[in-house]
Amino acid sequence: MNGFTYDIPVKVYFGENKLCHLGEELRKYGKRVLLTYGGGSIKKSGLYDRIIEEIEKAGLTVFELSGIEPNPRIDSVREGGALCKRENIDVLLAVGGGSTIDCTKFIGAAAYYDGDPWDFFDKRVPVPNCLPIVTVLTLSATGSEMDAGGVISNLETNDKIGRSDPLMLPKVSFLDPTITYSVNPYQTACGAADILSHIMEVYFNTEKNLYMLDCFMEGLMKTVIKYAPVAIKEPDNYEARANIMWASSWAINGFIKGGTSLAWSCHPMEHQLSAYYDITHGLGLAILTPRWLEYTLDENTVSRLYQFGVNVFDIDKSLPPMEAAEKSIEMLSEFFFKTLGLQSTLTEIGIDDKYFEIMAKKACGGDVIPGFKPLNQQDVENIYKLCL
Ligand code: NZQ
Ligand code: ZN
Repeated sequence: MNGFTYDIPVKVYFGENKLCHLGEELRKYGKRVLLTYGGGSIKKSGLYDRIIEEIEKAGLTVFELSGIEPNPRIDSVREGGALCKRENIDVLLAVGGGSTIDCTKFIGAAAYYDGDPWDFFDKRVPVPNCLPIVTVLTLSATGSEMDAGGVISNLETNDKIGRSDPLMLPKVSFLDPTITYSVNPYQTACGAADILSHIMEVYFNTEKNLYMLDCFMEGLMKTVIKYAPVAIKEPDNYEARANIMWASSWAINGFIKGGTSLAWSCHPMEHQLSAYYDITHGLGLAILTPRWLEYTLDENTVSRLYQFGVNVFDIDKSLPPMEAAEKSIEMLSEFFFKTLGLQSTLTEIGIDDKYFEIMAKKACGGDVIPGFKPLNQQDVENIYKLCL
């Protein structure tokens, strides 16, 4: 296991009826609150009213930025940053899924930056500082509630770029599984695929002696595989929603990464799909991941896929390793496309090979993705083609 620094200073309130602590937490950071949210699901579910009640009870002044899009746009970051400066906002309250939380992170950074916030992405300008962020998570998927990253899209340039900085870590996150009861089966499935991918991006590595982390990751994957179908069938099953929610945070909060050093592979490939076609992130990952594994399977990687199949999908361990590895990919596909009911090819969702070359080039950053198996531009193009 390589050396690492473990530092995840996000205070988490987990469980039902914890929002009564929202006012006291916000008040620690100031009086002027900017509430950010998406396209209105929080109004439909009644969550908006509960939040406003807590803010008012705490005697705070609330401003709002609504309409943050799935695959959040740089325009929303610009608008939010300007609003923070104009209204002297003290603290940000993001109520939503990964898109709202990601966007809010960069709004917090933009409040301290005089230039165009897109500079954080295309010029890699350092994040100067960030307003304190409190989140109320409404969808279990990205782990943005407990990590320092965010991904922003620019429609003018067909770019979707991620950036991470500890300054943008939420101070406090409220994780109430009952809030996710209203997430529909499709978004629940996409969320599950995203959580699994965050784990697999780390789990599929070539390093040795990660026994403790391996067991932890296998447990997280089994949790998602066990409970996502339950949450789809019974949206208000607390046990299922709670297990998925906590797994989503731990899949990407930095804990499992400790000790590994390889780059992620499917995420850079998926971000290009979202950038060009504005598809749901988890769906793109579900389509890509089995093809990526198929493409990477060889004598160097087979033992890892064998271990995955045996420990996560309970495949017969007496099978020859290559056969077990192939079976594990089959079972993963079956889980995504049959059990979760996600579409299985890019063709089905209206994507053809028109932009594969440029997307592959961008995914590799002009070089090689140094992941489980290093992938150059041609490799990435080949994987996209396998997804058609
Ligand atoms: O916008 P509203 O009306 O709220 O509806 C949303 C949206 O349409 C809806 N929704 C959310 N909570 C709901 C709900 N509907 C009913 N009831 C609820 N409780 O779900 C839709 C999708 O929401 P979104 O926030 O876009 O989903 P998700 O959480 O999957 O976030 C996706 C974004 O996060 C990025 C992705 O690339 C994508 O842009 N990621 C962020 C990461 C991070 N910060 O570390 C890592 C990930 O790998 C990912 O890249
Ligand atoms: Zn993801």
